[in-house]
Amino acid sequence: MKGIVLAGGLGTRLFPLTKITNKHLLPIYNKPMIYYPIEMMVDAGIRDILIVTGGKNAGDFLRLLGNGKEFGLDHINYAYQEGEGGIAAALSLAEFFADRKPVCVILGDNIFEHSIAEYVENFKKQGSGARILLKEVPDPQRFGVPEIRDDKIVRIVEKPENPDSRYAVTGVYMYDPDVFEFIKTLKPSKRGELEITDVNNCYIEKGRMRYDIMDGWWTDAGTFESLLRASNLVRRNFEEK
Ligand code: G1P
Repeated sequence: MKGIVLAGGLGTRLFPLTKITNKHLLPIYNKPMIYYPIEMMVDAGIRDILIVTGGKNAGDFLRLLGNGKEFGLDHINYAYQEGEGGIAAALSLAEFFADRKPVCVILGDNIFEHSIAEYVENFKKQGSGARILLKEVPDPQRFGVPEIRDDKIVRIVEKPENPDSRYAVTGVYMYDPDVFEFIKTLKPSKRGELEITDVNNCYIEKGRMRYDIMDGWWTDAGTFESLLRASNLVRRNFEEK
């Protein structure tokens, strides 16, 4: 399985913190944000990793991460996203890298308490289709929200005013090679982006989406509140060890 960390975007919700740097280079307690998703991948046994980034600070990722020695890697791949197109547009840049192998995608601003190794194994056993990780949250309207009937996801709605469940779709997505064909069929959403939720709905419509409910805490870090919460959660874990 190949790993893709998406670390582009303008980070406008964190302005002016992101005026002169990329969101994923900001600190979460004692490490730059991008370290956490890379560590998650490596812990799950994924060693062939692509970082997709963009903007004026893309070169900083190379200076920070180099060839991945700090993570026990020999090599890291990089792709550059020109302009803004959304998560699915960033993912489409990984088609060449994926080379028709299954992929595990992590959003660069997602921080997890526990390993995702078990869920990656579940996807390997699943063999094809897609697999996502859900987490119960107090504020589902900030996320992609699944509607679940008879233990099956029937659709996902992006940032619904009236959420169909208490679950958020977290930023870990596992796909078979068909994902790149699905992305080619997408149209930009109201916010002008190719939405990862639309990609997931393609798999759901075809009955090829499975999910796990994630253990431990999970947070994004793309707003002032969630950035602070992420640091506090990581610090608490650090102190408990
Ligand atoms: C994105 C996805 C959303 C998902 C979230 C997880 O939202 O569009 O479905 O729940 O990441 O962090 P964004 O951070 O782009 O608003």
